[in-house]
Amino acid sequence: MRTIEISSTEFQTNWKTLYQQAAQSRQHAHAPFSKFFVGAAVQDKDGNIFEGNNVENMSYGLTICAERTAIASMVAQVGKKKIERICVVLLGGDKKGGSPCGACRQVIWEFCQGDWNIEVLTCDPEMKNPPRLFTIGELLPDGFVFTGPK
Ligand code: THU
Repeated sequence: MRTIEISSTEFQTNWKTLYQQAAQSRQHAHAPFSKFFVGAAVQDKDGNIFEGNNVENMSYGLTICAERTAIASMVAQVGKKKIERICVVLLGGDKKGGSPCGACRQVIWEFCQGDWNIEVLTCDPEMKNPPRLFTIGELLPDGFVFTGPK
């Protein structure tokens, strides 16, 4: 993990639009139970961006996280199966800042198509702390790979 500066070329070139769209989608999250609002935006190889947010349900276990909503949106809209990068906007539970849940790490990994170096940027909603940049390999070391039935 490393932090990146908002003023850096790296953030401005690769992440700014993703951050803006994720932050906007976060505003539309359906989180009446937790009141914890999350937004995500994924980019495919063609530069298209797909947003998602958390959608909770009164039957709590049916809740879907922002990261998975964004990935499902990419698949639904253009049928792409690989992401180039993903930005997640959420408040951190402590001073370190937020990061994706375990289930989302596995789903993100699936759409990295074997590339452990795909980057995941987490931003706090008001950008009070510098964004944190992870690779999926850092977030999900030795993630599950399905090799098929024998
Ligand atoms: N949530 C996400 O959207 N993404 C994560 O990576 C962590 C958790 C949502 C699920 C639920 O609506 C709320 O945050 C509190 O757990």
